[in-house]
Amino acid sequence: MKTILLVIVSLSQLFALLPSSAETLKGVYSPYFTIGAALGAYAFANPESPVGAIAVREFSSVTAENEMKPERLQPREGEFRWDVADRFVEFGERNGMKIIGHCLVWHSQTPRWFFQKEGGKADRDTLVRRMKAHIHAVVGRYKGRVHGWDVVNEAFDDAGTLRYSPWRDGIGDDFIELAFRFAHEADPDAELYYNDFNMFRRGKREGVVRMVRDFKAKGVHIDAVGLQTHTRLSGPPVAEYEATIEALAAAGVKAMITELDVSVLPSPWGHTAEIMSSQEYRAKYDPWKDGNLPHEKQQELTRRYRDLFAMFLRHADAIDRVTFWGVCDRTSWLNNYPVRGRTDYPLLFDRSYRPKPCYDALIALPSLHKTSPGVGNLP
Ligand code: XIL
Repeated sequence: MKTILLVIVSLSQLFALLPSSAETLKGVYSPYFTIGAALGAYAFANPESPVGAIAVREFSSVTAENEMKPERLQPREGEFRWDVADRFVEFGERNGMKIIGHCLVWHSQTPRWFFQKEGGKADRDTLVRRMKAHIHAVVGRYKGRVHGWDVVNEAFDDAGTLRYSPWRDGIGDDFIELAFRFAHEADPDAELYYNDFNMFRRGKREGVVRMVRDFKAKGVHIDAVGLQTHTRLSGPPVAEYEATIEALAAAGVKAMITELDVSVLPSPWGHTAEIMSSQEYRAKYDPWKDGNLPHEKQQELTRRYRDLFAMFLRHADAIDRVTFWGVCDRTSWLNNYPVRGRTDYPLLFDRSYRPKPCYDALIALPSLHKTSPGVGNLP
């Protein structure tokens, strides 16, 4: 009798140590949308590392934070480096994850050789040829294994017109359409996405929706538009993202939240030089360097994540996937962007890889949503 009691007591102690429940993000959101994360090379090469283990447990989709960008895959013309990207795809497959390829055509993290030729700028034909060769090589290599591709990244400005890009400069406005056509040729079964930041802005929303409608009219294959959703505590308003998701659904494509994080630090835009050079600015723009976020900020962060996800749940029919841009605060890109060396707190896991209150709130949300779908309006 005594032994049985002892066993029961120690079992209950053991359960108390385990995560609060057997629930996971990917589990509780599976009736609604896929939950993903971007990973750096260390995490997917070391699935036993803290970040690797969290990724395997909590997420059912994975994006390479940098390792599939053109500068990594084709640093010199015709010289492809597949090693790290191959490991990434194997990691995703081993863990039954939807693998997202990010990204094929972008003005950033793309080697200059793409746009140059002896004596100056490459002409249209050369650029189209290089774009096609890159897309066919990359998409072709992972055909049937990568679920979907961010084909073109960040081509519009906030007004909804095309921004400067060396691709556009050399090819013309049809560079986006060409990229989608090449990607579809290379893997007709892969999903194809257009991906951008500031998708909450009306101008950009309208510009991207115009492009989607134009593609549909011409028979250019596109499945979804990615809203990067790098947000802050104080905004942009959830309703502005909501309007974009609705507009995309009306245009006949899915929305994806592709790079979600919430910076808690004061916006440094316009002050980056002063922050690097003045102690006073540094203290003001990097206030929680010791790794402890004040309680009320932690609560604000939880509310912000809950408000965003309450809206995502209301639009689950229009949203296919929600991907966080990273797993834990320690390795978030926001510690170094747009100013190097700050201490930000944008993700669901803290610097010691522990789940934060915003994680618990997101785990609890779907069951609240089931009983009361207006849950986004809770205090
Ligand atoms: C970022 C990575 O997170 C950083 O590690 C890298 O130094 C720069 O790029 N929009 C995108 C992503 O589409 O590829 C960017 O990722 C973040 C902004």
